[in-house]
Amino acid sequence: MSTLYERLGGSDSITQISSDIVDLHLANKAISTRFANSDLSRLKQSVAEFFITGTGGPNLYKGKDMLAVHKGMNISAVEFVAVLDDALAAMNKNGVGQREQEEVLFVLYSMRSDVILV
Ligand code: HEM
Repeated sequence: MSTLYERLGGSDSITQISSDIVDLHLANKAISTRFANSDLSRLKQSVAEFFITGTGGPNLYKGKDMLAVHKGMNISAVEFVAVLDDALAAMNKNGVGQREQEEVLFVLYSMRSDVILV
């Protein structure tokens, strides 16, 4: 069976989805202020590398683990759901199939204890 990375359309497709996720975060009232001081092109790049690596693509992501990234941010469960909403919206926009959306959602959801109130 092909990897999730391949079924998502590979690096170009995942890079586009990642850029859309960050843009949706900036338009999402539940979380937009979190990114007020972000370097957006750097953030999009990090998110794309994380996504590519985490779905079985090339090993590009050299950043911190999710606990270390989000530690001290005091992120709520509502904010976490807002991020999942944006990920689903970005995948829909880019024509990702339901099966692949479900797999990505499951992987993201499983990271909740590294992100919420850490
Ligand atoms: C499963 C869910 C999540 C994943 C996979 C995720 C992933 C990431 C990644 C890959 C980075 C970049 C790390 C780096 O540059 O080294 C990041 C940064 C960040 N995340 Fe998350 N994140 C998640 C949930 C959230 C939530 C719910 C919030 C709060 C709304 C949040 C807020 C942030 C902020 C503020 C940054 C730093 C942005 C910056 O450096 O400019 N994240 N996240």
